[in-house]
Amino acid sequence: MAQNRPFLILMLLLAIVTPTIAPAQEESADERARKTEAQMTDDERFGLIHSLMIIVFTTGKRDERVPADVPQIAGWVKGVPRLGVPNLLLTDAGLGIGNPGGGRKGDTATASPSAQLVCATFNPALSREWGRILAREARARGFNVVLGGGMNLARDPRHGRNFEYFSEDPLLSALMASEQVLGTQGEGVMNMLKHVSLNSHETNKWFLDALIDPSAHRESELLAFQIGIERSEPGALMCAYNKINGAYACGSDPVLNGAIKKAIGFKGFIMSDWKAVYGWDFALKGLDQHSGVQLDEEEWFVGPLRQAYQEGKLPKERLSDMVRRILRSIYAIGIDKWSGPGPAPDMAAHHEAVVETARQGIVLLKNDGAILPLGGKRIALIGGQANIGAMGGGGGSSQVIPWKGHALEVALGGEGLLGGLRRMVLNGPAPLAELRKLLPEADIVFDSGEYPEQAAMQARRSDVAIVFANKFESEGFDSPSLALPYGQDALISAVAAANPNTVVVLQTGNPVSMPWRGKVKAIVQAWYAGLAGGQPIAEVLAGKVNPSGRLPMTFVASVAQTPHPKLAGYGAPDTTPITIKYHEGAEISYRWLARTGAKPNYAFGHGLSYTTFAYRGLKVQGGETVTATFTVTNTGRREGADVPQLYLAGGGETGRMRLLGFERVELKPGESKQVTLTADPRLLARFDGKAAQWRIAGGAYKIALSKAADAPVLIGEARMQPRLFGN
Ligand code: BGC
Repeated sequence: MAQNRPFLILMLLLAIVTPTIAPAQEESADERARKTEAQMTDDERFGLIHSLMIIVFTTGKRDERVPADVPQIAGWVKGVPRLGVPNLLLTDAGLGIGNPGGGRKGDTATASPSAQLVCATFNPALSREWGRILAREARARGFNVVLGGGMNLARDPRHGRNFEYFSEDPLLSALMASEQVLGTQGEGVMNMLKHVSLNSHETNKWFLDALIDPSAHRESELLAFQIGIERSEPGALMCAYNKINGAYACGSDPVLNGAIKKAIGFKGFIMSDWKAVYGWDFALKGLDQHSGVQLDEEEWFVGPLRQAYQEGKLPKERLSDMVRRILRSIYAIGIDKWSGPGPAPDMAAHHEAVVETARQGIVLLKNDGAILPLGGKRIALIGGQANIGAMGGGGGSSQVIPWKGHALEVALGGEGLLGGLRRMVLNGPAPLAELRKLLPEADIVFDSGEYPEQAAMQARRSDVAIVFANKFESEGFDSPSLALPYGQDALISAVAAANPNTVVVLQTGNPVSMPWRGKVKAIVQAWYAGLAGGQPIAEVLAGKVNPSGRLPMTFVASVAQTPHPKLAGYGAPDTTPITIKYHEGAEISYRWLARTGAKPNYAFGHGLSYTTFAYRGLKVQGGETVTATFTVTNTGRREGADVPQLYLAGGGETGRMRLLGFERVELKPGESKQVTLTADPRLLARFDGKAAQWRIAGGAYKIALSKAADAPVLIGEARMQPRLFGN
């Protein structure tokens, strides 16, 4: 030690005289937000906390406060140019960049498949790619905020917006939605998760009070938002139209301030849905930005909030917090760094991504006697305007004008604010043309399906009959029942009676009741394919693509199996206040059926393939959470993808059922892959409202490796340590 002393002294001297050359630390988004906010005037602050509609939906007039060069989009927020804070240009983007009312002449975009279809791929990489596509197409137009990320859980199979949402399961929805947000924000465009919370019912939604036990809420919708926020840090959240436990969602202190900001720790800002604010004091309850202010009874965050501020009712610190949250998201995502609109996107590549997503998300529900892929010389193709195109999407704010144009557009109309947005669209290419291309040897005849007798006659003359059945869904409306509209159930029954080799292709945004289920050989769930048209459906039918989609929703046999057989508010005049008590709490859909023992038509997670898969060697480890390892083998003769799913299937304190994890695995014939899945411990826990923490009861938990929620293959047991954790 002693002989090292001169050396140590030298090092010490060097350290003193050498200037620190550590890399300049970039200021965090929080610090930047704090500094900018401190320099702002109150006018600038109030400018940032509301958005204006450009052309007001209710009057059809342009708002003169919006600069003339801002195109028609969902909303515009005034930035602070002198401090480098950009204006925010908000565009709808659930299923592609929207163009409300076609106001931006000739501006078309890539229409994505429904979020349900994206989710049915169980392939997070495709959701991420979809997020990137949204970003590129938004950026090319100079739009820096996309209103994507439909995260509400599908609690009711009649809900008109389920097609915009990912699934009925908090984990699955959170994973898929957060990938979309990561994809978008990774390209420098702000994305969000919406609508907080319980936006699961369109009928009278503006007058709906959704009642739920707060702990069950944390275990369901709020857990989905929590995981989504943790994984992707969305710049914003959008709050919902409905009330939650008596308070409007956008003015709910326990949900916004309590759960989202305090407990979950969301650092971005919460914007309202358009026409969802009922007072300036929503700012005190956690709302940070009032959207489309012209739609509400008063422009609450413009005049009334300013007055409340002057009267000392809105503390300065809260106003600063609202502004800082918005600035933080701008800086964290980097939308202040844009030097102008982005380059023109490669629309052909975006189109190909949509087709690939649809290929992976189409679900083969039934395939008796391996009737698919199609064989046979003569095929009767019936109904669903399959001679024109495939269902493109549902109606409402998510509708997109595709760059290839619609093959067919039918204005269905209807009453109320959203009646005009109820437009059924079909996109090309037509399934008929695509099938003819893929099966040149076959003689394919088309019948419109208008008359069941006529269709049955064609079916009788053919080796195989394929019936396309369509059901349009839309924001603003729920379905009164699960029946197919326009007599399509009767059409399918007539065709199946005429030819036992009947295949049904469903293009719907929800499960349908399928009274003909036992009479047909195959059923294909094709959802809404966006811009992809009939190509992916034809590829699955003809066997060019091996189906691999899995159901992100339980296909119940009837609404009697759901916790709410009666559709709340149905038939009541528009402004009637209605209440739904979500007595099932967090036990939604497959979890509900696990409890009641009812058999659905097809369970959550179900989906067949043209090959077969086997599972072996399940090893389950407990402790603080569950880790499972197993091997999947393709035991058939075709290359294909499987989605092994891990469920909590009983035991513990509650004996409840939960999806704990999944992985999409692509395998060649004979190939095997070892998979390891680790559960988010919150899925094994109860939310203890009193302790405001998650509680795992110690003991043995039953863990199932399954093909679907109702199809366990291997069962393991995990011994869990009792613990209380997190918030
Ligand atoms: C929808 C939102 C949408 C907003 C703006 C509302 O009708 O509920 O999802 O983002 O309109 O267009």
